[in-house]
Amino acid sequence: MRRFSLLLLALCFALPATALADGASDFATYCSTCHGATGQGDGAAAAAMDPKPASFNAEFFKTRDDATLTKAIKEGGTAVGKSAMMSPWGSVLKDDQIKAVVAHIKTLAK
Ligand code: HEC
Repeated sequence: MRRFSLLLLALCFALPATALADGASDFATYCSTCHGATGQGDGAAAAAMDPKPASFNAEFFKTRDDATLTKAIKEGGTAVGKSAMMSPWGSVLKDDQIKAVVAHIKTLAK
């Protein structure tokens, strides 16, 4: 019984730690203004942009691997030959947050 309580106690500390990198909420906070709430490149700020923010549709992911996505997010659009309007997020988001955001945008493909 005592061992079981210790396990429960350990879980209470472990769960919030795993919940720290929340790709969906980071995406909503930092990315949706341009890329749109559902990642279709139709955020409020997208109208005035040329080129438009990437739409994370199924077609997009055919030519993008995790390393390219991570590089674009961390170092900005110019690091992968894309628009400088896509700014670098490496100083805002930690590596585990970027990883979670990459996983999240993959759930947005249509
Ligand atoms: C100020 C508007 C803006 C914000 C905010 C923004 N982006 Fe972008 N994003 C762009 C634009 C513009 C492009 C480039 C489109 C192009 O050049 O074809 C882009 C491109 C990308 C690409 C594609 C690079 C490639 O391989 O083609 C990814 C991935 C991306 N953004 C992810 C994100 C993530 C994740 C966030 C939030 C952390 C974010 N963006 C925030 C505007 C924005």
